[in-house]
Amino acid sequence: MTERTNDEIRRRIAELGDWFHNMDLKGVRTAPNHFLYDYPANKFSRFSHALPEDLSGRSVLDIGCNAGFYSIEMKRRGADRVLAIDTDERYLAQARFAAEVEAADIEFRNLSVYDLGRLGERFDLVIFMGVLYHLRHPLLALDLVHEHVAGDLLLFQSMQRGSDAVHPVRADYDFADVAHFDEPGYPKLHFIEHQYAHDWTNWWAPNAACSAAMLRSAGFEILDHPESEVFLCRRGTRPTEAGPVYPARGHSSDEHQFQNGAPR
Ligand SMILES: C[S@@+](CC[C@H](N)C(=O)[O-])C[C@H]1O[C@@H](n2cnc3c(N)ncnc32)[C@H](O)[C@@H]1O
Repeated sequence: MTERTNDEIRRRIAELGDWFHNMDLKGVRTAPNHFLYDYPANKFSRFSHALPEDLSGRSVLDIGCNAGFYSIEMKRRGADRVLAIDTDERYLAQARFAAEVEAADIEFRNLSVYDLGRLGERFDLVIFMGVLYHLRHPLLALDLVHEHVAGDLLLFQSMQRGSDAVHPVRADYDFADVAHFDEPGYPKLHFIEHQYAHDWTNWWAPNAACSAAMLRSAGFEILDHPESEVFLCRRGTRPTEAGPVYPARGHSSDEHQFQNGAPR
């Protein structure tokens, strides 16, 4: 393929609309006025050491890939196969272009985290960064990641608000015990009824204890917490019998088993 000139890259970046990932494509910035500056490279530099340097022979699923920054980084680390999914065609078009400029062989698909059951494949590394708080059903999404696609490692990040403290939580409490709910470090998921940061897709803001508790509850063992919002996990067993309550779509057996959301 012939190399694109800087002018061509600049023109195509502009045609592809507003970018959330401020990437450097052969010296041309995709979002030079980004409110988080060199994002996500500046964020990645704070936790990149926690990931394996060499991903050769491994597969990666990037859920909510946006313009593909993390997918391209994983390809740079030698990942054999990278599948990147998002529900926004505009971001997927940006990602396809960025991958083309960077000569990164990545498969992109328009697929929701709620439809992971359609993939029928597990991945050595699942990246689930910056998506949880945009979902109306965040714990369901984590359950589905565990149930369908996580094979080994999970890289997770959420916007967090509230205390960074972690209050020790007992296995059980009496009905009359209420004080712990008011501890700043008790797991709390703040619901955003209207908007936050002028973005109506922000639905939830967990505190740090809640991110960790949700990950454990969905069956992930936390291996590392290299940055305040970032967790590196390993798929383990769920602590309870409870799993996803939503049928995995796309498998004909499931469609026959479930009708109107209830088992037949
Ligand atoms: C804040 S961005 C995070 C992008 C990237 N993962 C990162 O950490 O920089 C959230 C992304 O999740 C995508 N998204 C939102 N809902 C989704 C869903 N149900 N399934 C998959 N992706 C979704 C959005 O389109 C957007 O690209």
